[in-house]
Amino acid sequence: MDLHTRCKQQLEPLHLLKGTGYYPYFRTIEKSFGTEVQVAGQRMIMVGSNDYLGLSHHPKVQEAAAEAARKWGSGTGGSRFLCGNLALHEELEERLAAFVGKKKAVVHATGFMTNLGSIASLLTSDDIIICDREDHASIFEGCKASGGKVIPFSHNDPDDALRKLDKARGKNPKGCVVLITEGVFSMSGDLAELPGLVKLKENHPDMLIYLDDAHGLGVMGPGGRGTAAHFDLNPQVDFIMGTFSKAFASVGGFLAGDDELLLEYVRHESRPLIFSAALPAANVATVLASLTLIEQQPEMVERLMDITEKVRAGYAQIGLYVRNHGTPIIPIYIGQEIKAFAVTQELFDKGVYALPAIFPAVPKGQAVIRTAFMANHEPHHIDRVLEVIEDLANKYSIRIPDLVEEGSLPESVLDEHGGYTDQPQPTAQAVVGTGGE
Ligand SMILES: Cc1ncc(COP(=O)(O)O)c(C=O)c1O
Repeated sequence: MDLHTRCKQQLEPLHLLKGTGYYPYFRTIEKSFGTEVQVAGQRMIMVGSNDYLGLSHHPKVQEAAAEAARKWGSGTGGSRFLCGNLALHEELEERLAAFVGKKKAVVHATGFMTNLGSIASLLTSDDIIICDREDHASIFEGCKASGGKVIPFSHNDPDDALRKLDKARGKNPKGCVVLITEGVFSMSGDLAELPGLVKLKENHPDMLIYLDDAHGLGVMGPGGRGTAAHFDLNPQVDFIMGTFSKAFASVGGFLAGDDELLLEYVRHESRPLIFSAALPAANVATVLASLTLIEQQPEMVERLMDITEKVRAGYAQIGLYVRNHGTPIIPIYIGQEIKAFAVTQELFDKGVYALPAIFPAVPKGQAVIRTAFMANHEPHHIDRVLEVIEDLANKYSIRIPDLVEEGSLPESVLDEHGGYTDQPQPTAQAVVGTGGE
């Protein structure tokens, strides 16, 4: 089959979706105001962004970016290995290592490249990689490129990880073992079962833990220092990976750790770092300015948590199924994909910008609409979002009993008869209408 025909066949589901009028991707944002955007002339509330602290529109952050572009130029002119390694990159590495409580950090040009380059350079086909099944694509790409034996374990299930680890170790007693998990899972908003995963080191003391905290840094833990800090497990986590594309309001990524030799190795062996241009100064300065603001104003993180709790309680009051992990990613469980697309379109028509996550980002038949909140959402944003979602919950039957009937809740929350094992839902005191302070 020729390439054109093959691609056309693979695009058929996409063309069918476009035919329904529900296609939600690649929307053109004409203007961005942070918590609001303009699309097709319409002003909308953004509840899909990862700009959790709303720093991408902070005047100090914007000024730092503009100033750095004036001072250093708009591009770096080469990879860090050759002629693009600015003093700013090194300053950022020091600041990041200190922020996450590690000795050293290595900055890459994106978070994706950080995972790809770090995992692929550190590990080889002799090694064992134990990964949470719901880890991000960049982690799996890194694993694939390393040639290591990749063993996925059930999402957030340390017992399953241990079983798989014991078995793999039995077959390969000499290889290095690395367990990779996200800190805050990007689609479900679940917080990693980090204490249980760290405990596996009791049986496997040579196992290293690699924590992708893309969605946890700036968000979780004291002063936004991340998921390891949240659990007070920083020393037990060997590598902390982060991105600048979420709370740090830019683009780029880093790997941090205490074994300086391993970090030096990544610096010299990561192919995306050696063979791709360095992060431009404006982006580096954005992250430096964001770090300063996070350090000076930890109340931003508290405000994000308050807003998050209000939304969670509001969703629970409407009767939606809510995961109780305290992260700003709060998916609305829908079930069937086509219904998720229809609800997304209706949200959009009513001025709420959020996107659906479908298989393979989530299990089949368990489509969600991923909503995520920002520290600078105003009370009227939250009130409006809850009002619109309440309307749609009536129209589309997406409350817990409807989801149980349709079999579209995650298995882990169902009892042996397929019923809902009533998890503690967030309390509804701080709810609708009260908004932020
Ligand atoms: C968990 C996780 N890791 C890594 C990445 C890649 O980061 P970036 O977008 O900065 O390349 C993402 C991005 O969505 C992510 O969610």
